[in-house]
Amino acid sequence: MALRLLFAVILVAAAGSARAADPSEALPEESKPCLACHSAEGAPKVDAAAFASSVHLALGCTGCHAGVDLAKHPAAKPERVNCAGCHADATKHYEASIHAAQRAKGNETAPACATCHTPHEVSAAAVGEGLKDACLGCHAAAADTHKKWLPNAAKHLEVVACAACHAPAVQRKVDLRLYDGGGQKRVSEDLVPGFAERVRALDKQGQGLDPAQLRNLLDHLAQEGKVAQPLLIGRIEIRNGAESHHLAGKATALRDCQRCHSAGAEPFQSVTVSVQGADGKTLRFEAQKEVLSSPISVDSVRAFYAIGGTRISLLDVLLALALLAGVSAPLVHLALRKLLRKKQG
Ligand code: HEC
Ligand code: HEC
Ligand code: HEC
Ligand code: HEC
Ligand code: HEC
Ligand code: HEC
Ligand code: HEC
Repeated sequence: MALRLLFAVILVAAAGSARAADPSEALPEESKPCLACHSAEGAPKVDAAAFASSVHLALGCTGCHAGVDLAKHPAAKPERVNCAGCHADATKHYEASIHAAQRAKGNETAPACATCHTPHEVSAAAVGEGLKDACLGCHAAAADTHKKWLPNAAKHLEVVACAACHAPAVQRKVDLRLYDGGGQKRVSEDLVPGFAERVRALDKQGQGLDPAQLRNLLDHLAQEGKVAQPLLIGRIEIRNGAESHHLAGKATALRDCQRCHSAGAEPFQSVTVSVQGADGKTLRFEAQKEVLSSPISVDSVRAFYAIGGTRISLLDVLLALALLAGVSAPLVHLALRKLLRKKQG
């Protein structure tokens, strides 16, 4: 065990030193002059290191700021950036959102693409949970208003993406994120090179990882010491990331507990497993919904919802089982009602 730990530490150190190189080296040639000015005094600064680890690195600066003529710039301003050209799907759903509707009405405080996605720093870490903070930055009161009707609101806001309730028209899923160290550290591809190939080798038919394959994957990661304590932490999200933009008014948001807390509830019908890709993208792999309830993965069921480890109670187990579509609904409702009564005094 001590040996394994040491191995993990060395790997982390190696990954760290590889990153320390000059980030502008990674940029496409035609972008280097841009950063020469835009990382120095006298011009608006762009964080080169953050850009180099973002999904847009390969585009270079000119992928978004087309037509900059260096002979005339900065006097001549670049054109406005158009995200829609490359992200038609996300744009379509954004256009159908309450935010777009507000902007169309002239409400400039409603977000556009670059308000939520810091344009030079879009990475796996900045999509998904990272964006919750962007939402709460404008909707600061939301953290409190949800407490009025939702027990343990803080927990819900952690394990359910805002859009999973606020984009009611589209499908949800459970994303199981791979963590190490008892849930302390999200696992990135740097730690497990070839992760995608391994998943593909296990899931030869392309039907999604089944419980035995997932178990096998986790066991091997632990045995190899690459991820000393693999832990999958679930989060309810929108199945198709682009549809996360389909945010509607509060009147239609998911509020009925049964939409999630009942056997066979819709969000649990679709499952992905994810790690952070080395190139800033999130790598997601389909898994079969049975991974959430099968006896083969039963001893990692605790891990799926980050139950256990630091806390485990009968309620956790009952809820988890219900969420995982294992147990009859009445039993769980009994437990839920008991808990609510306790909380309301
Ligand atoms: C010689 C130094 C220099 C180089 C090279 C340079 N810029 Fe600039 N850039 C500036 C300065 C200075 C400003 C600020 C101009 C102002 O505020 O009027 C600026 C402004 C900008 C802006 C903001 C314009 C706006 O509307 O406010 C963008 C975008 C930009 N540069 C992109 C680029 C890109 C892309 C490249 C490479 C193709 C590049 N720059 C190369 C100096 C430079
Ligand atoms: C994914 C598209 C994208 C890429 C790639 C990109 N930018 Fe930008 N950049 C934007 C957007 C969008 C804005 C405008 C932000 C806003 O108006 O809110 C912007 C703004 C800027 C500004 C003005 C910032 C300010 O503080 O006024 C500069 C300078 C700039 N970009 C330089 C660069 C440089 C240099 C690179 C390459 C290292 C780069 N951009 C790559 C999308 C991009
Ligand atoms: C020239 C094309 C291009 C433009 C313009 C562009 N992107 Fe991207 N964007 C990409 C590519 C390529 C990827 C990599 C993911 C992929 O393969 O779809 C990406 C990925 C993303 C992701 C997903 C990250 C993830 O983890 O899956 C977000 C978010 C994003 N872009 C936002 C923006 C925003 C906001 C703008 C405008 C400021 C923008 N992009 C402009 C090409 C572009
Ligand atoms: C209100 C905040 C917000 C605004 C505004 C916004 N996005 Fe997003 N975007 C998100 C969230 C949240 C996700 C996360 C989806 C996930 O990880 O499941 C996301 C994900 C994405 C993705 C990745 C989708 C995928 O397939 O996983 C792209 C691309 C993207 N956004 C582009 C855009 C573009 C283009 C615009 C403007 C038309 C835009 N976004 C406006 C919040 C926003
Ligand atoms: C479990 C589902 C659920 C989750 C998760 C959730 N919401 Fe809500 N939210 C609701 C419902 C239902 C309402 C309507 C409450 C009402 O009208 O009394 C609401 C109301 C709101 C409102 C309207 C104003 C207010 O404060 O009541 C905003 C803004 C909001 N939510 C933002 C967010 C943000 C941001 C997140 C993520 C950090 C989030 N919500 C997560 C279900 C959810
Ligand atoms: C730049 C500020 C800003 C950001 C960032 C932002 N919003 Fe909003 N949002 C607004 C504004 C402005 C409105 C329209 C006025 C209002 O209802 O507060 C709005 C409306 C909403 C509503 C409808 C509220 C109602 O009363 O019906 C929901 C739900 C919502 N936003 C969710 C989100 C979520 C989820 C995110 C993150 C993915 C997010 N917002 C990010 C500014 C923002
Ligand atoms: C969008 C899906 C969703 C909705 C809607 C929802 N929940 Fe949850 N709830 C979850 C998830 C996911 C968990 C996390 C399970 C875990 O980690 O134990 C959870 C956890 C809980 C917990 C346990 C908290 C803890 O500390 O473990 C309680 C109690 C609960 N929900 C009650 C409710 C009630 C009551 C409602 C309706 C007012 C509701 N939930 C609506 C998804 C949802």
